[in-house]
Amino acid sequence: MATTDIVVGGQNGVAVLQLGAMSNRHGLVAGATGTGKTVTLQVLAEGFSRMGVPVFAADVKGDLSGIAAPGKPNKETERRLGLIPREGYQQRGYPVAFWDVYGASGHPVRTTISEVGPLLLANLLELNDTQSGVLYAAFRIADEQGLLLLDLKDLKALLEWMVDNASDLRASYGNVTASSVGAIQRGLLVLEEQGADKLFGEPALALADLMQVDFSGNGVVSLLDATQLVQKAPRVYAALLLWLLSELFEDLPEAGDAEKPKLVLFFDEAHLLFNGAPKPLLDKIEQVVRLIRSKGVGVYFVTQSPLDIPQDVVGQLGLKIQHALRAFTPKDRQVIKAVAQGFRESAGVDVERVVTELETGEALVSALDAKGSPRPVSRALMAPPESRIGPIDTAERAQRISRSPFRGKYDQGIDRESAYEKLKARADQEQAAARPATEQRETRNATVKPGPTRQTAGEALMTSAARAIGSSLGRQPIRGVLGSLLRR
Ligand SMILES: Nc1ncnc2c1ncn2[C@@H]1O[C@H](COP(=O)(O)OP(=O)(O)OP(=O)(O)O)[C@@H](O)[C@H]1O
Ligand SMILES: [Mg+2]
Repeated sequence: MATTDIVVGGQNGVAVLQLGAMSNRHGLVAGATGTGKTVTLQVLAEGFSRMGVPVFAADVKGDLSGIAAPGKPNKETERRLGLIPREGYQQRGYPVAFWDVYGASGHPVRTTISEVGPLLLANLLELNDTQSGVLYAAFRIADEQGLLLLDLKDLKALLEWMVDNASDLRASYGNVTASSVGAIQRGLLVLEEQGADKLFGEPALALADLMQVDFSGNGVVSLLDATQLVQKAPRVYAALLLWLLSELFEDLPEAGDAEKPKLVLFFDEAHLLFNGAPKPLLDKIEQVVRLIRSKGVGVYFVTQSPLDIPQDVVGQLGLKIQHALRAFTPKDRQVIKAVAQGFRESAGVDVERVVTELETGEALVSALDAKGSPRPVSRALMAPPESRIGPIDTAERAQRISRSPFRGKYDQGIDRESAYEKLKARADQEQAAARPATEQRETRNATVKPGPTRQTAGEALMTSAARAIGSSLGRQPIRGVLGSLLRR
C-alpha cells in the first residue's frame, strides 16, 4: 500500500482502498439519513489530509467540525479496528480552517458580483430569460466601462443608472425595462433578507488560502459552516460552491497524472447544486466537473440518493460509496434498482438486497484500480475516523478561529471605490453643475436624487469610463461562472 492510499474500510480482513492517484476521478457518498455518510466523508478527508492534500468541505449539519479534535477511545472504534486492517491508526485532530458566509462561526467567505458572473447570478436570483438579458447587459456595461461590480450596492446602483438611461442604452444593449430591473432588484432584496448579501464584497476569498498544508505536511481541511446557509439560502449555498468550482477550474494549471490530487472538494447536500438549475447551467456544471479533473481537483458529492445527481455527472465518478437505502415506497425501490445498475457486478454481491441490509457505517464500495478501471463492488465496514465523531463545541471552535492565520486577512470587510461610488460621484457632479454656486456649497454632501440633467449622465459616464479603462483601477473582466467557459 502506498502512502497516498486511504483505507476506507475492510471486508473479511482485506482493506478496501481509495488510491491517491485515482482521487481526482471524483466520487459519491450516498445513503439514507443516519447511515454513516458524514463519518465516511470524515475518514476520506482525514486520509487526504494525511497525504498532504488540502480539503474543502461544506459542513451542512455542523457535525464535521469534530475533525479538528482527536477522537476518544470507544468500543465501536475498537470493534472496527479489529475487523479492518488499518495500520498506523491514532486518535488525533486535523488542521482545520473554519469559514462562514455569515462570519459568525468562521472567517467570512466573500466573493464579488463580477466573479460570480451573470450566469450564476441569474440562477441565484431565479430570473427569466428577459430579466437575465438585462443582467447580462449590466455586466457588459460594467466590463466595457471599467466599473467594478463588487457588492450588491454596486449592482443596484448600476441597475438604477440603466433604468435612467434606458433610451441611450437601447441601441447597444437592448431594452432595459423597469419591470425586468424591478425583478432583479426584488431578487437582490431577498438575498439581503437572507443575510446573503454578506457573500458579496471584499476581501474576496483567495483560492490559495484553501490550498494550505500545515507545518507537519498535513493538508488543511477548510470547513464551510453551511448549517445556516442551507436552511436560509440554499440557492446561495449552491452558487457559492459552483463559483468555487469555476474559479478553481479557471485558475489552476493543468496537473497531468499525479500520485495524489492538488485539492479535494466535498459537496454535501449535493442535490442543492442541481435543483432548479436551468439546462445551460447544468451543461456547464457537467463540463466543469469533467474538465477540472485534469487540474488535479477531486470532487466528492454527498447526498441521500444517487438519483439526486445528474446522470452525466454520476457517469464520471470513480469512487462510489453507497450506504444503506430504505425500501419502503415504490420510489425507494426505483432508486435501489438504479443503484444496482450503477455498480459493476461482483460475484456474490446482490446489490439490490444488500443495500437495504447494510448496517450503520457499512457500505457497498466501488473504487478504481491503479489502471483506472472500476473494481468489482464490495461490501465493506467503513474505517473509524481518527478524529472526533460529532461537532466540537462553540468554545473549542472559537479558540481555533482566534488562533487562525486568516483572522487579520478576512474578518474585516473593506469597501473600496467601485461602481456605486463612481456612479454616485458622477451624479453628484452632474447635479452640482446644474445648480448655482451658492446652492452647491450647501448641498455638497446631500444624497443624490435623479436631477433634471440625468439624461446626460449616460454620456458623461461613457466618456469618463472610457478614460478609466486602462487606468490603474483597471477593468475587472467578467469572469465567473464557470468562467471563461460560461462567459459566452
Ligand atoms: N465509520 C464509522 N465508524 C464509527 N462509527 C460510525 C461510522 N459511521 C457511522 N458511525 C456512527 O453512526 C452515526 C451516524 O453516522 P453519520 O452521522 O455519518 O450519518 P449520516 O448518513 O451522515 O446521517 P445524516 O443523513 O443525518 O447526515 C455516527 O454518529 C456514528 O456514531
Ligand atoms: Mg451527515
